[in-house]
Amino acid sequence: MAYPRIASFKSHEDFTGRLKELGLDLPSDAEVQSGDDSPLGQTITLKSGKVGNRFCILPMEGWDGTSDGKPTELTRRRWVNFGISGAKLIWGGEAVAVRHDGRANPNQLMINDANLSSIESLRTELVGAHQERFDRTDDLLVGLQLTHSGRFARPNQKTLAEPRTAQRNPALDPRFGISDDSKMLSDDELKKLIDDFVAAAVLAKKAGYAFVDIKHCHGYLGHELLSGFDRPGQFGGSFENRTRFARDIIAGIRAEAPGLEMGVRVSVFDFVPYRPSDEDRIGIPDEKADPRLTFGGDGSGLGIDLSEPSLFMTLLEELGIELVCSTAGSPYYNPHIQRPAYFPPSDGYQPPEDPLVGVTRQILATAELTRLHPNLTIVGSGYTYLQDWLPNVAQAVVRTGMVDSVGLGRMVLSYPDLPADVLSGKTLVRKKVCRTFSDCTTAPRNGIVSGCYPLDPFYKDMPERKELAEAKKG
Ligand SMILES: Cc1cc2nc3c(=O)[nH]c(=O)nc-3n(C[C@H](O)[C@H](O)[C@H](O)COP(=O)(O)O)c2cc1C
Ligand code: SF4
Repeated sequence: MAYPRIASFKSHEDFTGRLKELGLDLPSDAEVQSGDDSPLGQTITLKSGKVGNRFCILPMEGWDGTSDGKPTELTRRRWVNFGISGAKLIWGGEAVAVRHDGRANPNQLMINDANLSSIESLRTELVGAHQERFDRTDDLLVGLQLTHSGRFARPNQKTLAEPRTAQRNPALDPRFGISDDSKMLSDDELKKLIDDFVAAAVLAKKAGYAFVDIKHCHGYLGHELLSGFDRPGQFGGSFENRTRFARDIIAGIRAEAPGLEMGVRVSVFDFVPYRPSDEDRIGIPDEKADPRLTFGGDGSGLGIDLSEPSLFMTLLEELGIELVCSTAGSPYYNPHIQRPAYFPPSDGYQPPEDPLVGVTRQILATAELTRLHPNLTIVGSGYTYLQDWLPNVAQAVVRTGMVDSVGLGRMVLSYPDLPADVLSGKTLVRKKVCRTFSDCTTAPRNGIVSGCYPLDPFYKDMPERKELAEAKKG
């Protein structure tokens, strides 16, 4: 592997030296401050409540719910860990399907009347754990992420894709065995789905969540609709039509669940799907791809144009939304831009660039949108690859107003209380720092529950670890 590992940088200078070598304009503070007055300790005041610091837990599912969509002990453990993390914003917990055909796997959580009390208990247990550890919850904001997995739906069997798409896609259709329009959701089906999102939000409000995230990222349905340039009818073509799904859900929720706030997690740029090259498995753009079908893309399939994502943010502001979570691409078809990693997941490809390039790309795109939309509260993603230097970069980007809140994904699977440690001025525990082994992604791609098998002692001891090792050999 050509790229130096982050763990090999022994000093902040080594780390920033590497950034310079790569020509990356990513700020990083040499010293990280602690306490309420530190950049990361500052409060944000929103309509929906107070957020006591600048750390956010990003949504992360575990493929570990029951077949009828209720949480299991594994799900509860993850949410309790989110509660003890010290972060004061919980962006959605994990993707929760608004109905059965939209589940990304047969173990994804689902919100309905029958599951309401258990979905509620996830929140109360998280809040309880936070109260026990930090003695207050008045500055903790907890939302629920609502989803329909669209093209990536596998509601009935782990191995059976049952895609429902927004439009045809020459690179992705063959990967799902799609050869005609029959998997496309019709306009009438989308209208019914909008009602299902609204009904799900009404239930989320009953379950005490402060906001719902109307998921528009990672290639799932909401995101695919944003790039539905070729889709005919009321939900495709023009910007107005491509955002109709979001607008109608927001209007429906305002009418049916007054007082419930909303956020939108959006892939603010996208590249064409990648595939492993035949020679060395390094990722290359899929030759079959249509570069136009990328929301936030510049038409080349490999570049960024934030004009439409910025228009989308303006629209969200006009609709009274104040929370946006910025992410990029898709973990299925271009994971190197979505969750930069040294070691790819088993269905991925070797990184085509130093993963620091991917981290910086997301941070700078988010910074541009934060600059253009000062009235939104914007959470950034994709920081985990920074590893030991995550707190240094996090402080620098918050301090300089490049983002309002730093979202943490994989890092809290391996090191759940990293935010608490940073804010209390403790030295990071190196053996808990995520090294982006990708086992938490490889496991579910092989039908195994997700978790940090290499570093979390709980998962290390699970029998599934052996199964995962076998799957990786295969
Ligand atoms: C195991 C796993 C599960 C995830 N599940 C979700 C999810 O349910 N919803 C979502 O929006 N993103 C999901 N993500 C993406 C993360 O929220 C985040 O964007 C990504 O991991 C990059 O951030 P990081 O570099 O801090 O890990 C998941 C990521 C991982 C590793
Ligand atoms: S399995 Fe653990 S170390 Fe590997 S990427 Fe996931 S959280 Fe990080």
